[in-house]
Amino acid sequence: MSLISLLLAHTATVSLALVLTAFIFLYFYSKSSKSSNYNFPPGPPALPVIGNLNILDLHQPHKTLSKLSETYGNVFTFHMGPKKYLVLTGYEAVNEALVTQADDFSERGQTHTTEIFSKGGNGVAFGKGESWKVMRRFTLSTLRALGMGKMTTEDRIIEESQRLVEVFQSHKGKPFDPQIIINSAVSNIICSIMFGDRFDYSDAQFLNMQRILNGNMKLIVSPKTQLYNVFPFLGFFLSDHKKIDTNQTILQEYFRNAYKDCKDSVDSNDLRSFIDTFISRQREEEARNSNKYFHEGNMAATVGNLFGAGTEPTSTTLRWGLLLMMKYPHIQDKVQEEIESVIGRERPPQAEDRKRMPYMDAVLHEIQRVGNVVPMNLLHETTGDTTFRGYRIPKGTPVIPLLSSVLSDKTQWETPHQFNPNHFLDTQGKFVKRDAFMPFSAGRRLCIGETLAKMELFLFFTMLLQKFHFRPPQEVSREQLDLTPTPGFTSGPQPFQLCALSH
Ligand code: HEM
Repeated sequence: MSLISLLLAHTATVSLALVLTAFIFLYFYSKSSKSSNYNFPPGPPALPVIGNLNILDLHQPHKTLSKLSETYGNVFTFHMGPKKYLVLTGYEAVNEALVTQADDFSERGQTHTTEIFSKGGNGVAFGKGESWKVMRRFTLSTLRALGMGKMTTEDRIIEESQRLVEVFQSHKGKPFDPQIIINSAVSNIICSIMFGDRFDYSDAQFLNMQRILNGNMKLIVSPKTQLYNVFPFLGFFLSDHKKIDTNQTILQEYFRNAYKDCKDSVDSNDLRSFIDTFISRQREEEARNSNKYFHEGNMAATVGNLFGAGTEPTSTTLRWGLLLMMKYPHIQDKVQEEIESVIGRERPPQAEDRKRMPYMDAVLHEIQRVGNVVPMNLLHETTGDTTFRGYRIPKGTPVIPLLSSVLSDKTQWETPHQFNPNHFLDTQGKFVKRDAFMPFSAGRRLCIGETLAKMELFLFFTMLLQKFHFRPPQEVSREQLDLTPTPGFTSGPQPFQLCALSH
């Protein structure tokens, strides 16, 4: 190569580096200068470019944020790269924002990754603005209407839990990992609501949907994905968001096919499923020339949200429940005594039984509190310029209402770090509600599936404990059962094996 061409190549490299540096500088400057007229609460000192990322535990970010609240209080600023996040911890601050100032804090915060799920604000969980409001209202009313159909949701859950019992029985007391089968049983409830039918546990498509969902739940909070959210221009060598996108495309393809299959057979007088109801509404809106939101994009995103949100947190909570029963056998014994006296051994449990089972109710609430399956909550965002506790926060600020800090708030719980069903019992053994019980969050974005999830947890759990006594495999002592959560969007227990011994 001649000297001239070497010089030219060198000059081009230097120029490119200068342009890139200028671009990165401008990118961060524009991001950080936007909020200079506002008054954010104090927080840990931020470094240029990376902000506070140097102190964030990317595997368990909620732990870092909880720890920081000991220094900076319940309302503080955290810098993810150049961007300011408002962090709210503890019952009082989270409740004040999400409930008392519900109008100000109900927008959904987006990241570059959640954009993969919402494709421009579609669906419910990552939906925004008017489209979110319409989809949320439609989803809530459709879930209610389908629960009151020919086969009620309660019947579906009872039938599914009987099938789950059969699979547990087939292991004949030998150790097995219950994760996949619990996922499938729980998923079948939301799938039968969405598609009008359950899947066989060995159905290849169903198993693939579960595998993809599990994979995405881990990838969505992986350190690489979190870095990509802050520095999207590094995306070319951070691969996890690309895997999420590929997975999501496969799932959406399933949902779009189900939608196409239903299109010709929808009878508006006999709506069999969520997808049927969506198509029927789409036709009504089109007939009135008013269809803005009932399009295929919103259908696929909403069905995707329901599939994910309707499967993962509930099945994860059930796994926490079984693990905790093995860890605390005296509590398992008490639960079983109550089942024996209220329901007996043969009759399947019904939702009505719950009212006469305060101990079971307390145990289930405590499993949800300690299980803490959505520790970070979903990201919120201020809907407009907002004043909160004297601070002026601009429209569009991402907000983290940290649920883990509410569920372990020491001003609210007597023994925040212990599994203690007495948190939900009075001195007479009656069930008591607690304000800081917020695993489903609160306010306008409150989980849509709360009622469904509570019914599923009660019926599945009661049925399993009615039929089996759970203990760890012979070689594992109760002390060795590990309660350290695994990182993931939903925070579950470490994989474990159990022995289900028939009564
Ligand atoms: C134990 C089970 C469950 C837990 C702990 C849970 C928890 C949550 C949490 C913390 C949120 C975020 C709320 C917020 O942004 O403030 C949420 C949202 C949501 N959940 Fe659940 N969930 C559960 C089960 C379900 C089920 C069974 C469904 C299906 C019907 C469901 C559907 C949704 C949807 C669609 C949203 C988005 C709501 C919105 O953005 O307007 N969830 N859930």
